[in-house]
Amino acid sequence: MDFYDVVKNRRSIRGFQSTPIPDEAVRRIAAAVNAAPSACNLQPFAFKLVRNAQLKERLAACCKQPFPATAPAILAVITDPEKAWTRGDGFNSADTDMAIAMEHAILAATAEGLGSCWVCAFDTLRAAEVLGVAAPRRVMALCPLGYPAVPPREFVRKDESQIFEVMD
Ligand SMILES: Cc1cc2nc3c(=O)[nH]c(=O)nc-3n(C[C@H](O)[C@H](O)[C@H](O)COP(=O)(O)O)c2cc1C
Repeated sequence: MDFYDVVKNRRSIRGFQSTPIPDEAVRRIAAAVNAAPSACNLQPFAFKLVRNAQLKERLAACCKQPFPATAPAILAVITDPEKAWTRGDGFNSADTDMAIAMEHAILAATAEGLGSCWVCAFDTLRAAEVLGVAAPRRVMALCPLGYPAVPPREFVRKDESQIFEVMD
């Protein structure tokens, strides 16, 4: 799929078929995550693709919405701010690095014909317990992955001129 088609086709999907994700697709998604840039190339994150039915059920139960439970897998991203770059003014790159890598995963998943949805509305402490994550590491986002069972919502955006300006 052409890159711009991937960008256009990537939409939040909130209902999935139970069909498993092929291993080759998982490998390509992992490689896409590993190719993501990060400040000083520190890669201060860890991704876990939860396929185990019991673990997935417990992770889905941490979410405010029911749809993640329908996915055959949930991708979780964990950050470690202590392993990230910190600028002189205190800015820590962990969240930025994590977001870029997660978007790599999501775009790769789209190229594989998979649906996905960033999920931040979840109980982070409970998710940390499920995944065995201890402070200072944090579970920052979840992303159910699977073949779509429902269409995305209507595409709504600001006018492009409001968010993108060319300054010659
Ligand atoms: C950081 C972040 C957190 C999000 N959290 C949720 C969430 O908890 N639940 C949900 O249904 N969608 C969530 N979304 C999806 C957004 O609602 C969605 O990206 C937005 O409405 C645009 O729609 P689209 O992704 O289909 O283009 C999240 C998206 C981002 C980037």
